[in-house]
Amino acid sequence: MIIAIDGPAAAGKGTLARRLAAEFGFAYLDTGALYRAVGLTLLKRGIDPADTTAAEDASANLDLSLFDDPELRAEATGGAASKVAAMPRVRANLLDFQKNFAANPPGGKKGAVLDGRDIGTVVCPDADLKLFVTASAEVRAERRRLEMEGRGQAADFDAILADVRARDERDMGRKDAPLKPAEDALLLDTSNLDIDAVFLRAANLVKDRLTPQ
Ligand code: CDP
Ligand code: CDP
Repeated sequence: MIIAIDGPAAAGKGTLARRLAAEFGFAYLDTGALYRAVGLTLLKRGIDPADTTAAEDASANLDLSLFDDPELRAEATGGAASKVAAMPRVRANLLDFQKNFAANPPGGKKGAVLDGRDIGTVVCPDADLKLFVTASAEVRAERRRLEMEGRGQAADFDAILADVRARDERDMGRKDAPLKPAEDALLLDTSNLDIDAVFLRAANLVKDRLTPQ
């Protein structure tokens, strides 16, 4: 069973994906972390994230230690990630790992949940369940602000909103694997739904698909 969760920045994809994976005993892959690791490699080396050659090299030699780096979650890293994510060779370099994860979930698990921007359209076009999770840009920026505040980081709503919008535009506007719902994706607008409500709806959809017809 493969569950594909796509959507714009801070829509609640990761929170939902993690809970579904825990509930059903599936493996979870945060594909955004792969692009973030490439972006962060360049930031740490003082290289412009628009440097295609450096980004292609970083994606071909992914620095796995960065997955535990607190800077991986920073909005600046998200911005760098969305720049390298527009480069076709970078996407191609990261694709096999994601496809393999879905085809052979680690730990012998019977299913996988992947979240990102192109899971339903490119990485797992045959996924059993595709969800496109959205919320208004204002709601998403406020969620990110609260998250940062909770981590003790300075968080200005207007600056976060501008970053989130710029990133969404870049992700929707690129030629290669742009952010968009797959034709067979179910849209879930979470603007007025809390985490539990979103989880319950999604979990019911998974149960429907696990039950033999
Ligand atoms: O993975 P993505 O960037 O789409 O979002 P996330 O990291 O799962 O969620 C961003 C923040 O919004 C987290 O702090 C969640 O707890 C929160 N959230 C929420 O308040 N209400 C929801 N329905 C979903 C997420
Ligand atoms: O958690 P949040 O929604 O803020 O971002 P993320 O999922 O960690 O993704 C960071 C960036 O990586 C996105 O803005 C996209 O540009 C890129 N990305 C992508 O292009 N394709 C994916 N499957 C996942 C992420």
